[in-house]
Amino acid sequence: MKPTKNIIAISGSLRAGSSNHGILRFLGKLAPANVNYAIYDGLSQLPHFDPGLDHDDPPETVTALRKLLTEADGVVICTPEYAFGVPGSLKNALDWMVSSGSLVGKPLALITASTGGKNAHASLLLTLGALSANVLEDATLLISFIRSKMDGDGNITDVETANKLKTAFTALLNQL
Ligand SMILES: Cc1cc2nc3c(=O)[nH]c(=O)nc-3n(C[C@H](O)[C@H](O)[C@H](O)COP(=O)(O)O)c2cc1C
Repeated sequence: MKPTKNIIAISGSLRAGSSNHGILRFLGKLAPANVNYAIYDGLSQLPHFDPGLDHDDPPETVTALRKLLTEADGVVICTPEYAFGVPGSLKNALDWMVSSGSLVGKPLALITASTGGKNAHASLLLTLGALSANVLEDATLLISFIRSKMDGDGNITDVETANKLKTAFTALLNQL
């Protein structure tokens, strides 16, 4: 039997009915039996990053996320772009992960699913580089016009997009 592996998935959108959440749910259905796939839902509970609180005993929600990511075998980040940048809540979470090193060497799939998205995508690649995450080239995907590729229930209706997501997720699974 294969050993159990853990993947933590984070959406950069807090919106109910988010297309990025829809993508994360789609990926979860592709996870094999030996992979525990969990979508993190605590982004909105994290305090604003404060270097003065960034020590060994930070706020509880920060400790919990650091633990989740440190113990994960792989991470998926799936996010929209806001105002030509990374959504603040996602960037805030990543700022908390700098000093803890929770993403160092961590196999990571980066999916930016937005109307356009190239600015947030490029910015996240820089940030994740600063965090020394192992961003897998084959698991890095920019999906523009995402809402036209999904139905109202958050299901992916565009076959090419679904196939690209499967390929990206498989690349992550292969690195666990
Ligand atoms: C405040 C705001 C700013 C936005 N700015 C951008 C942007 O700069 N680039 C872009 O591609 N989409 C932008 N969008 C559109 C989002 O890409 C779109 O709403 C996307 O579906 C959000 O992801 P979600 O469905 O997972 O919530 C913006 C949306 C909002 C609400």
